Amino acid sequence: MSGSDAETGKADFSHIYDRPDPRDYFRTLSRYDYEIPQRAQPVFETIFSALQADGGEPLRALDLCCSYGVNAALLRCGLHLDDLVKRYAGPELADLSADEMYMADKDYYADRVLPDAVHVSGLDVAANAVAYACRVGLLDNGWAENLEDGKPSTELARELDLVDVVITTGGIGYITERTLGQVVRTRPGRPAPWVAAFVLRQFSYEAISAELAQHGLVTEQLHGVSFPQRRFASDSERDAAMRAVSERGLDPSEHEETGRYYADFYLSRPRDAAAREPVDSLLAAVAP
Ligand SMILES: C[S@@+](CC[C@H](N)C(=O)[O-])C[C@H]1O[C@@H](n2cnc3c(N)ncnc32)[C@H](O)[C@@H]1O
Repeated sequence: MSGSDAETGKADFSHIYDRPDPRDYFRTLSRYDYEIPQRAQPVFETIFSALQADGGEPLRALDLCCSYGVNAALLRCGLHLDDLVKRYAGPELADLSADEMYMADKDYYADRVLPDAVHVSGLDVAANAVAYACRVGLLDNGWAENLEDGKPSTELARELDLVDVVITTGGIGYITERTLGQVVRTRPGRPAPWVAAFVLRQFSYEAISAELAQHGLVTEQLHGVSFPQRRFASDSERDAAMRAVSERGLDPSEHEETGRYYADFYLSRPRDAAAREPVDSLLAAVAP
């Protein structure tokens, strides 16, 4: 672990975000029991089913802060996060070169991608990670762009016009309403995409919700449950998180105080969809 972010108090893992393959990412984060993609999987799948219930074309999801395609691996290949941890953090493949790892992964995912897999594209600033996820077939399309600082490229803008649902784990905080406000757009003849976001409890989602409301989306928080994200990497991370959630008026005693970051879940949808079934009822079967 190297240093921490002065504003959020979170450990700085940027050195593992853009490696030629995912091994360092999993070796490092598995030490802290990183688990939010696994917690998110059934939630995202329920949301995909609700959207798909309207019929029509196969669903198109955009994973914001997609990294090496972790969510895509779980959602498109039916894998468990433990499978990925074993693969990338274990000793068997540790000596492969990045190219050999890529060759092995290409076959691994080709054998596992589900016949009716959801179409997942990805956006992340980490160009190597996005390229890897595309090359091994986890992402159908990927873009390495920073919408905190700039505007989407023409190619990305074309995809944004087609996306049905935006998902994200572990990304809010790095990205803000500046990114979400550009990703979600009102399209001619169709509403803005749904946004399904896991957000650390220390971050407010208000500015993003307000931005999404400009595009006709109503945001609801799933009540009664927060999802473990990972163990704290240090006492200073823990102290900073406890302070930040307390400042937001939240009680850390059953969550951060146990030694882990926790995320809340927010779903933003067009008003009619939200009115048809509140998020608490939509996700009643999958919220632990
Ligand atoms: C904690 S990782 C989460 C990755 C993945 N979603 C997961 O849950 O395993 C955070 C990711 O956010 C990406 N990121 C940071 N700043 C970003 C930005 N401005 N736009 C897009 N992605 C960004 C990083 O490159 C990194 O891949």
